[in-house]
Amino acid sequence: MRVCIVGASGKLGQYMVQHALDRGHEVVGVCREQSVHKLERFASRIRVVSGPTNDPEVVRRAVEDCDGVLTVLVPWGVQQYATGTAQAVLDHAHEDARLVFSCGWHITRDGQDRYTRRLRAFVKVFGWIARRLRYADLDDQEEACRRVFASGRRWTVVRGSRLEEGESEGLPVWSRHVGDPVLRSDRTRRIDFALFMVAALEDDALVQEAPAIVGCQTRSALRHGPARHAPDAPDAP
Ligand SMILES: NC(=O)c1ccc[n+]([C@@H]2O[C@H](COP(=O)([O-])OP(=O)(O)OC[C@H]3O[C@@H](n4cnc5c(N)ncnc54)[C@H](OP(=O)(O)O)[C@@H]3O)[C@@H](O)[C@H]2O)c1
Repeated sequence: MRVCIVGASGKLGQYMVQHALDRGHEVVGVCREQSVHKLERFASRIRVVSGPTNDPEVVRRAVEDCDGVLTVLVPWGVQQYATGTAQAVLDHAHEDARLVFSCGWHITRDGQDRYTRRLRAFVKVFGWIARRLRYADLDDQEEACRRVFASGRRWTVVRGSRLEEGESEGLPVWSRHVGDPVLRSDRTRRIDFALFMVAALEDDALVQEAPAIVGCQTRSALRHGPARHAPDAPDAP
């Protein structure tokens, strides 16, 4: 499979590059000019397209002929960076391409997620401060995801819990709604978030799904997982 990774130089992106290469995919990475050096260790094995990830022309050049596109959605700045990135991918990826986007639990697809007071407070306070400082705009990531959800493309939006570094524990488990018991531990290794993104490329059960993920070795996952229920089954007890 030929796979484009938009945001390849970040922490999540670099893990995705490694997983994609491990699976034998051909990789095209997109990152900002000043970050190309972060991909040096992959230099002989991937093609790098440098430029802003919300530049439609940069994205068009990178995604042509790709069967899958993995996109790191980040709401940096207040210039609709995440929305521009998502839109560029939606506009230019091949019509049959598998499109997988990353975001956090705070994104909701159907309004059925049940958030803790702590998460709601964090989003409210961090969102307000970040916007005031013009550092980030969480609404931008929401708008980016709304556009993906509304598209008829073969998308998956992977919603990450709190992240931590460390060795891989294996493929995270998932559920449709934050608040489901299996997700209670709210912790995923970043390397495994990347593993889930790459595995999603070849998992048709995840097409037009917005899985919220959690580490497979966490207490809640061991107690209540696996969370892969059939589409018409009730949510986890
Ligand atoms: N961090 C968390 O705790 C957490 C929790 C849940 C979900 N997530 C989700 O996980 C994904 C990756 O998050 P991460 O925290 O692991 O970040 P990350 O992988 O380190 O990625 C950050 C990305 O943002 C880019 N970036 C940084 N500053 C930028 C700027 N000023 N303008 C434009 N791009 C900029 C980086 O590109 P350069 O390499 O060019 O700097 C990189 O591609 C995101 O979708 C996030 O919503 C994160």
